[in-house]
Amino acid sequence: MRVTAILLAAGQGTRMKSSLPKVLHPVAGKPMIWHALEAIKQSTTEKPVVVVGHGAEGVTKYLGDSAQTVLQEPQLGTGHAVMQAEPLLRDKTDLIVVCYSDMPLLRGETLQALVETQKNNKGPLSMLTVYAEHPRGFGRVIRNADGTVSAIVEEYVATAEQLQVKELNVGGYCFDANWLWDALHRIPKNHKKGEYYLTDVVELASKDGLAVQATVMDDLEETIGVNTRVHLAECEVAMRRRINHQHMLNGVTMIDPASTYIEIGVKIGADTVIMPNAYLYGGTEIGEGNVIGPNSIIRDSKIGNRCKVLASVMEGAVLEDDVDMGPFARLRKGAHLGNHVHMGNFGEVKDSRLADGVKMGHFSYIGNAQIGANTNIGAGTITCNYDGEKKHATEIGEDVFIGSDTMLVAPIKIGDGARTGAGSVVTKNVAEDTLVVGMPARAIKKLERKAKK
Ligand code: UD1
Ligand code: MG
Repeated sequence: MRVTAILLAAGQGTRMKSSLPKVLHPVAGKPMIWHALEAIKQSTTEKPVVVVGHGAEGVTKYLGDSAQTVLQEPQLGTGHAVMQAEPLLRDKTDLIVVCYSDMPLLRGETLQALVETQKNNKGPLSMLTVYAEHPRGFGRVIRNADGTVSAIVEEYVATAEQLQVKELNVGGYCFDANWLWDALHRIPKNHKKGEYYLTDVVELASKDGLAVQATVMDDLEETIGVNTRVHLAECEVAMRRRINHQHMLNGVTMIDPASTYIEIGVKIGADTVIMPNAYLYGGTEIGEGNVIGPNSIIRDSKIGNRCKVLASVMEGAVLEDDVDMGPFARLRKGAHLGNHVHMGNFGEVKDSRLADGVKMGHFSYIGNAQIGANTNIGAGTITCNYDGEKKHATEIGEDVFIGSDTMLVAPIKIGDGARTGAGSVVTKNVAEDTLVVGMPARAIKKLERKAKK
């Protein structure tokens, strides 16, 4: 059986007060529309169709080939939005799942249950509902005596009695496709708003004597729809809780999950401890037995096993095993630290590889460099890699001792076993096992010491 999803994303999202289309606002690092696409994957067999309108260009660009898009212009309501997909989908699918794209917490399992309900329904549609004390402006679900649904009544037209109904329309539907296309053309124009409401097809079915079934959800949190940035923050908190919960079940320790910020897709191995105020972003992958944080930001980076990253920042960087980093270290794109590297406070590494056992304790900048195993980088060492126009490479061999405050003027090579004296400005290659010193301080004159008063 062919099942296709239509995601509605043409609305303006006025209450977000944003230049960014509503469905592109991120939750746990991924746009809301990504969450919607993820959720419908499990229960559909065909490529989804996204109805775009406001901000269509940005949304279409983001979607790439993950979905087909149809333009709804002007936006005349949710029924009118679904209608736009008819030319694309007529006779191409058996069931249609319609979802709004601003419910990032809706789970795939919930939509699967909805599709199952419809597969067992002799009538033309099934829908998701939830019971809640606070209706938050949702449409009310009116039932027939036999338990099937007879209508959805929007809040602003509901009678006092209907307003008391606690069962709400979540905004997820599964339709028999052939029935839907014809029903959409029968939706009456809503006189107050001049729109065509998808929800009106429920009453059409019911009046034709066809059964509309409901899948009642038990997790209210899943139904949070984002209309304002307040709702967006609610979703962010709920999603964070969900993500952290899963990591903890997988064997990750969190000292304070509420202040641990992990985006979707980040991988963490067992027995790693995540301390408060850790931000783990993008495609970050962390192995086992590490201690991350407190106060660290790690984006698109790989960390092996048994490393310590204290109050540091990593972006596009790699740590092998047993690396000890921080506090206040910064790894930029292309930084790669081998096994047992020690990188202390106020160091910065970019586009460089530090081989196993390198020590770089304090205040250094290493850029465009290769550093051999067990080399010591003294405090304040700088690779002078930029001449104002181009970047140049520095190569340092194994077992080298770079004295404190050495300036290595690139391009330059330092041979294995060499040493540089403190404060050297090294402008020429240094051969293996050679000591260089530069500009040693020399006496200039005898000073007169002033008598203390
Ligand atoms: C809708 C439902 C309501 C339900 C609630 C749940 C209708 C008429 N009402 O109300 O019963 O309880 O969702 O959140 O459907 N959209 C378009 N084109 C349009 C209008 C809307 O694509 O012309 C899209 C929006 O981008 C949004 C979705 O449809 O993703 C829902 O629209 P919205 O205006 O938020 O509907 P609600 O008033 O919330
Ligand atoms: Mg809404």
